[in-house]
Amino acid sequence: MNNRITSLFNIQYPVIQAGMIWASGWRLASAVSNAGGLGLIGAGSMYPAVLREHIQKCKQATDKPFGVNIPLLYPDIDQLINIILEEGVQIVFTSAGNPKTWTPVLKAAGIKVVHVVSSAAFALKSEAAGVDAVVAEGFEAGGHNGREETTTMVLIPAVCEQVKIPVIAAGGIGSGKAMAAAFALGASGVQVGSRFVATPEASSHINFKQAVVNAREGDTMLSLKKLTPVRLIKNNFYQAVQQAEDSGADVNALKTLLGRARAKSGMFEGNLEEGELEIGQVSALIHDIKPAATVLAEIWTEFRETIRHLNSLDI
Ligand SMILES: Cc1cc2nc3c(=O)[nH]c(=O)nc-3n(C[C@H](O)[C@H](O)[C@H](O)COP(=O)(O)O)c2cc1C
Repeated sequence: MNNRITSLFNIQYPVIQAGMIWASGWRLASAVSNAGGLGLIGAGSMYPAVLREHIQKCKQATDKPFGVNIPLLYPDIDQLINIILEEGVQIVFTSAGNPKTWTPVLKAAGIKVVHVVSSAAFALKSEAAGVDAVVAEGFEAGGHNGREETTTMVLIPAVCEQVKIPVIAAGGIGSGKAMAAAFALGASGVQVGSRFVATPEASSHINFKQAVVNAREGDTMLSLKKLTPVRLIKNNFYQAVQQAEDSGADVNALKTLLGRARAKSGMFEGNLEEGELEIGQVSALIHDIKPAATVLAEIWTEFRETIRHLNSLDI
């Protein structure tokens, strides 16, 4: 396929594997890039030296384009950006922060920059900051999310109405049918997160992958809205957060409850009750763990079949 996203990144399919803490290291990113999508290393859970190692291993594992996702609120952000510049990374997806701060630095080095937004207002700010594209991430998505709770179905057309740069849809997309819906709403590409957690190449703990496969409709909820909203599987940790919020806990109390290692404990070490398990609503539609290349191929085949089916409707 040839469109604004495939030509922006020089890839075969306009499917991006989302940067995800404790899930998307070099193995997953290179597998997706080798299969014709765009793989992203999730720097948010990596110390600077670890990020360098993942970039170097990814370069060895693929000669196709790949990128790095950086949440801009990361404490060692300067060091991560330096590593990206030193290692010659060509594509950077930024999130959770102001795109004005780092976009000019990255663009000056010839890097393609994409920012993740959860509202049309932030999409406009990102465009003004000079990014090449935006990811519009709806309420259904796994991981951190906007307070506005705008669903993908509403967010994509709202963002497409406002910006001229290409829009990549995210949140609730794990199949070719969902990808076709995103394209119908105006997106030129999709970013897929949760579906790629349930792959052998994801670095997440097998307990977490299995929890994703077992999750049913209604098993995830947007939580920690006072702090940084994040969609979680409802486990003991989630219940503790809810109780604290219901009894009026302030931001500091929530920060203490969250601690720093909850996400690692849940997603990387497999502590399913006391850890933080970030996943999207689409987990209800994920029924198996299968190779990343298979996930991508199935999405692409179903996307094409869906478009053909829609074209054949007697209207
Ligand atoms: C386990 C997990 C970790 C995530 N970590 C990050 C992250 O570090 N940076 C980021 O920008 N988004 C992160 N996200 C959000 C994804 O990049 C992506 O936008 C989202 O998963 C898309 O929605 P979906 O899960 O419905 O496919 C994470 C999502 C998941 C499921």
